[in-house]
Amino acid sequence: MKSYKDAVIISPPLPLEFLPAGSPVRLGVLASGSGSNFEAIAQAIKNKHLNAEIPILIYNNPDAQVVEKAKKYQVPTCLINHRDYQGDRQKFDGKVIEVLRENQVDWVIMAGWMRIATPVLVQAFPQRIINIHPSLLPSFPGINAIEQALQAGVKVTGCTVHLVVEAVDSGPIIMQAVVPILPKDTPETLHAKVQLQEHKIMVGAIALATSQM
Ligand code: GRF
Repeated sequence: MKSYKDAVIISPPLPLEFLPAGSPVRLGVLASGSGSNFEAIAQAIKNKHLNAEIPILIYNNPDAQVVEKAKKYQVPTCLINHRDYQGDRQKFDGKVIEVLRENQVDWVIMAGWMRIATPVLVQAFPQRIINIHPSLLPSFPGINAIEQALQAGVKVTGCTVHLVVEAVDSGPIIMQAVVPILPKDTPETLHAKVQLQEHKIMVGAIALATSQM
């Protein structure tokens, strides 16, 4: 039996059956970094736990490790480097929208996308953009959510998958998982524990959202 230290609560419960049969949902994934959430989605598709496909992965950092993971799963990639847009976030998002539309995506998944979505992106895919954040929103929005939780001295934190609206980290919550904080936790150990739960609720929330909406 697991000790209370391992206790994790996922709300709502993970769907037992993922997507209904039919055409796979086309997911456009946006990622900036290591891509462990991208990999969780790609692996769930490979395992047939998710009736979806990823026609395109867009990344914004030329050296993002997510690219290697995309190769492993034979997912096409497109680099859109925000540094080429001289701070014009709307123009950058315009290019992102163009590539997503070219690839006829049904849903947009921000899987560690370290850019704030401008209204033009949110309005291009209304109620069809999903984001993951490493805290129990509405607590600790913005950057350094793990460090914020440690500093606040809270005893539990977690992760949230939500729909993206124009205000940052504020859209309707689809799924959350709770992770206990232990006295010995550091930002690194806590982030590792949170990420394990992120991978579960990212897949579960995509299944839930895309099958219901
Ligand atoms: C995740 O912790 C996510 O919550 C945050 O960025 C991180 C991305 O991790 N927004 P990865 O690139 O999916 O490994």
